[in-house]
Amino acid sequence: MQNNYKEHLYKILVIGDLGVGKTSIIKRYVHQNFSPNYRATIGVDFALKVLNWDQETVRLQLWDIAGQERFGNMTRVYYREAMGAFIVFDMTRPSSFEAVTKWKEDLDSKLTLANGKNVAAVLLANKCDQGRDVLTNNRIQMEKFCLENGFVGWYETSAKENMNIDEAANCLVKHIIANENDIIQSEVPDTVSPQLNSDRGGTCSSCFKS
Ligand code: GTP
Ligand code: MG
Repeated sequence: MQNNYKEHLYKILVIGDLGVGKTSIIKRYVHQNFSPNYRATIGVDFALKVLNWDQETVRLQLWDIAGQERFGNMTRVYYREAMGAFIVFDMTRPSSFEAVTKWKEDLDSKLTLANGKNVAAVLLANKCDQGRDVLTNNRIQMEKFCLENGFVGWYETSAKENMNIDEAANCLVKHIIANENDIIQSEVPDTVSPQLNSDRGGTCSSCFKS
């Protein structure tokens, strides 16, 4: 009997300014814990998260890139062959939100998918346990920002309180799978390509919270 079971490995970048909580989000997502102490990441760290996705296995190779790399030359090397990205800012620090467009521009200028599209990117407004800021209170404004800057969705997250991290990751994976199916189809136009079902989580626009 033919075995159709598939495994998928996706490289995902986690980028954003110093101290916004990238390492903490990954730690919460992968190891289910949180530390209040700050130890800046040097260069890049790695973590692996394994998901069951519609009876198939999805492995997420998370690249935790140091905030200080924004001004470095290494991002091009780190970004290579990534399929998705989280761009993180700290809700209590407006300057980290201003940096989001710079991180996104850096990403899109250095990385393009085989079908010519930008990689799927989800925006994370982290540290929401510390109170809402004026900016993310305006959801229409945030959705407009996402559309204008090419984010497939945004989430208020807390690594401390474990809020919305799984939801944000599911949104990203869903869009990565859609992109991957698109690439497979554009490469083999005359055959019916096997597709990983990406039903989980609804349509693209549902990634935006109402
Ligand atoms: P770099 O490695 O320097 O780029 O920083 P980073 O983005 O990896 O930040 P890190 O995860 O190290 O977190 C920085 C500080 O913010 C630490 O003291 C964390 O404990 C704290 N922190 C991270 N996420 C949260 C959160 O959701 N809520 C609160 N209250 N604190 C957080
Ligand atoms: Mg870090």
